[in-house]
This record gives sequence, C-alpha cells and structure tokens, in this order.
Amino acid sequence: MRYLLVTILALSASAFAQTDEQRAAIADRIKSFSNVCVAGQGCGGASVADAAVASLPGEAKYAGCAACHGPNGGGGIGPALAGREADYIVGRLTAYRANEMVGAQSALMWGQAAALSDDDIRDLAEYVTSF
Ligand code: HEC
Repeated sequence: MRYLLVTILALSASAFAQTDEQRAAIADRIKSFSNVCVAGQGCGGASVADAAVASLPGEAKYAGCAACHGPNGGGGIGPALAGREADYIVGRLTAYRANEMVGAQSALMWGQAAALSDDDIRDLAEYVTSF
C-alpha cells in the first residue's frame, strides 16, 4: 500500500514537472512584469512611440513645468497644454519671456520663461505637441 502511494505521488509530480521549453516560455511571459519603467526612460519593453518621445530634448526641459501643467499637459495650477499647436506654445512662451500680460496669472509664467532660449522654447513646444 505504501509503495502504491509513493508511485502515485511520483507520477503526479512528474505530471506537473515542466520541460525546459515550458520554463523558458513562462520566464519570457513574466519578464515584462519585472521591468519597472518610468515614462521617458528607455526600457526594454518600450514601444517605438515611447522611444520617439524619450528622445525629444524638450522632455527634460518640461520637468519643471509638469508641476503646474501636469506630466501630460492636462493642466492643474496652469492651463492644459495638451492639444495646443506648437506655434501657439512658442507664441505664449515668447510673450511670457518678454514679461507680457497674457492672462491674469501671467506673472507666474514670467519667471518660468525668463531663462528659456529660442531653442528651449521650440523644444518645449515640440514636446508639448507630442502629448
Ligand atoms: C508655478 C506654476 C507654473 C509653472 C511651473 C509653469 N507654468 Fe505655465 N502657466 C502657469 C499659469 C498660472 C498660466 C496662465 C498664465 C496667464 O494667466 O497668462 C500658465 C500659462 C502657460 C502657457 C499658456 C497657456 C495658454 O492656454 O495660453 C504656456 C504655453 C505655458 N504656461 C507653458 C509652460 C512651460 C513650458 C513651463 C515650463 C518651462 C511652464 N509653463 C511652467 C503656471 C505655471
């Protein structure tokens, strides 16, 4: 009786054993979950679109803007930027850099735009239109 039990256990254990191929397939399937990706960082499973965005120079320059305009331009303390044309963004930033009044809270943007170069403004506009 004991031998029978051992045989049954051994048989059922072998039924659950995986082949190397199955093990590799499982490892492959769970690999993507072990890769923690932060938006904008080039990481293994990133799509081609993500890679394109990650390479935009405006992304790093936008880091300080995100606090008020949202990481994807959805707005917050500042108005939403997503969906705006690049020319519109360039025009606004150029006006703020010249300390011009646009809306009632323009003073909040003057300091933000003061140190931006023309290239910075173009890069930021390009990045914002990628949202
Ligand atoms: C402290 C919060 C704050 C930060 C940081 C900030 N903004 Fe703003 N932004 C505002 C506010 C408030 C307005 C609206 C200003 C007004 O009334 O004219 C604004 C307006 C704008 C506008 C015009 C939007 C429109 O609808 O006309 C653009 C473009 C813009 N910001 C881009 C940026 C960029 C790019 C950065 C980073 C370099 C940035 N902002 C950083 C608060 C901020």
